[in-house]
Parts: sequence; C-alpha cells; structure tokens
Amino acid sequence: MNYRHDYHAGNVGDVLKHAVLALVLTHLRAKPKPFLMLDTHAGAGAFDLAGEAASRTGEWVAGIGRLDGADAVPDGLHPYLDVVNRVRSERGATIYPGSPLIGAGMLRPGDRLVAVEREPGAHAALTALLGRRRGVRIRAEDGYAALAASLPPPERRGLVLIDPPFEDRAEFQALSLALRRAHRRFATGLYMLWYPVKDPGAVESFRQQIADSGIPRVLAVELTTRPTTTVAGMAGAGLILVNPPWRLDETLCVVLPWLAERLADRPGSGGWRLDWLRGEDNEDQTS
Ligand SMILES: C[S@@+](CC[C@H](N)C(=O)[O-])C[C@H]1O[C@@H](n2cnc3c(N)ncnc32)[C@H](O)[C@@H]1O
Repeated sequence: MNYRHDYHAGNVGDVLKHAVLALVLTHLRAKPKPFLMLDTHAGAGAFDLAGEAASRTGEWVAGIGRLDGADAVPDGLHPYLDVVNRVRSERGATIYPGSPLIGAGMLRPGDRLVAVEREPGAHAALTALLGRRRGVRIRAEDGYAALAASLPPPERRGLVLIDPPFEDRAEFQALSLALRRAHRRFATGLYMLWYPVKDPGAVESFRQQIADSGIPRVLAVELTTRPTTTVAGMAGAGLILVNPPWRLDETLCVVLPWLAERLADRPGSGGWRLDWLRGEDNEDQTS
C-alpha cells in the first residue's frame, strides 16, 4: 500500500466527493430517524495543505484553492464550504477535512460513523483525531470486508461511502462487485462510490457494469477540468450514487456547471456529466 491521500487532499476529486457528501448528509439529517455513515476507505481525516506532501503536488491549489474568494456560489455548495470553513476556524487555516471528519461533524446524537482505514499511519492519525468522539467507531481492516460486517445497519438507514485508492485498474472491478454485494444486504441504503476520470475506456466499462447490475436508482456524475484526451494524469473525478436524495440531481445540475467553469484548467476546458444509469426518467445531461 503506497497510496497516501495527503498528496491529493483538497484536489478536484475531493471537491466533488466532499461537496456531494455534505449534501447527502444534510439530507439524512433532515429526518429525525438516526443513520449510519460507513466510510470504507476513510483516510487520516484531516490534512495540512501547507504540509510537505500537499505542497509537493500542489493539487489542492486547482481544487479547494480555486473556491476561496468565489462569489455567486450556488446554494448547493454551502453545506460543503460551511464544513471547510468550520474546520479551518477550529483547527487552523491550512487544515482541510477528509470524509470521516466531515461525517463526524454532521452526526446528531444517535447517529453513527464507522470509519475503516487499513494503512497503519492513516489509521493512527484518524484514531487520534476522532477516536474519542461519541458515535464514532474506527476500524483497522479491509474496507470491502467491512461492508459485510456492517450491513444492513440496525438503523436501516444509512450512507455507504466507498472511496478506494485506485492504485490499479482492477479497483473498478472490485468497486462494482462490492456495490452488488452490499446492495444485496442493504438495498435501501444510500451509496456513494468515487472513481477517477483518467482512462475513458475504463470509466465507460465501469459505468456499463453498474448499469447492467440490475440495481435501480443509480445516478452518475462527473466533473473534469481538462479533456481526458490531452493528459496522462487525472482529468477529473466521478461518483456513482445509488438511492440519491430526492432532487439531488437538480441541485447538482446547478453545482456541476459552476464547478466545471470555476475549476477549469483553462477557460472552457472544464466539463461535467449527470446521467441516470438506472431508474427515474433516464435523464441524460452532458456538457
Ligand atoms: C482516497 S483515500 C480516502 C480519502 C477519504 N475517503 C477522504 O475523502 O478524505 C483511500 C484510503 O484507503 C486506504 N486503503 C487502501 N486500501 C484499503 C483497504 N483495503 N481497506 C481500507 N482502507 C484502505 C488508504 O490508506 C487511503 O487512506
């Protein structure tokens, strides 16, 4: 395991993932019934953007760095930016929150977060950050195996975030298999799967696998800052959302074009997609 999220924290992929995560958690909080958030690949929880790793790549500059000082920010980005700003004021101006810190900050009494992280250094950092928080349990095991152990949750209400490191191409296969297995155990759960937009062929075949899985109510969204054909690295990121909150698609149809323009590498080089892979009206909106 070589992957360390410190190098990538706050990049375009994080902006998309964490903006949607904050919207989904806001939706879960809107009803009184308690929920579980299961974060299968949780990471260290907080990242110093002025630290050695983040400074070496500077990826955050083209991500969260481009949102600072923005005006006319869409309403749908406020839950995310509120969390980022709260973490900055509590922990320091250069600290950026990871998914378990965002989740823990949005739990109500009775809600739970199970955060799974297998890499010992990241696990230790996460335990120091959140190990004593009420409602939070941190586990050091394989995130995919934790799906079987934790689902279905007794609350019968929850969000499963699967955000693996994508150290190799087989991760697409593992992700789609994990979703099918988890969905059989907990079909009413809300699932969020993150993937990189790098190799267009791999992305299309992954989306097709998910569409063919028979799982209903699947929304796919993507955000890119440059065309995939022009770069060797990541052009952007995508999310598969199963059972997304009602009208999340409408909110994202405002948020995604705004982010694509704001985070674009050059004027006009950004793009976005929002497709219902299964269910609803089979809407397809691409830019
Ligand atoms: C993309 S990062 C997670 C970022 C985090 N979800 C966030 O948004 O802040 C992926 C994490 O998965 C961890 N990891 C890798 N393989 C794992 C496995 N099999 N089970 C659990 N965690 C794993 C890595 O150490 C890394 O911290």
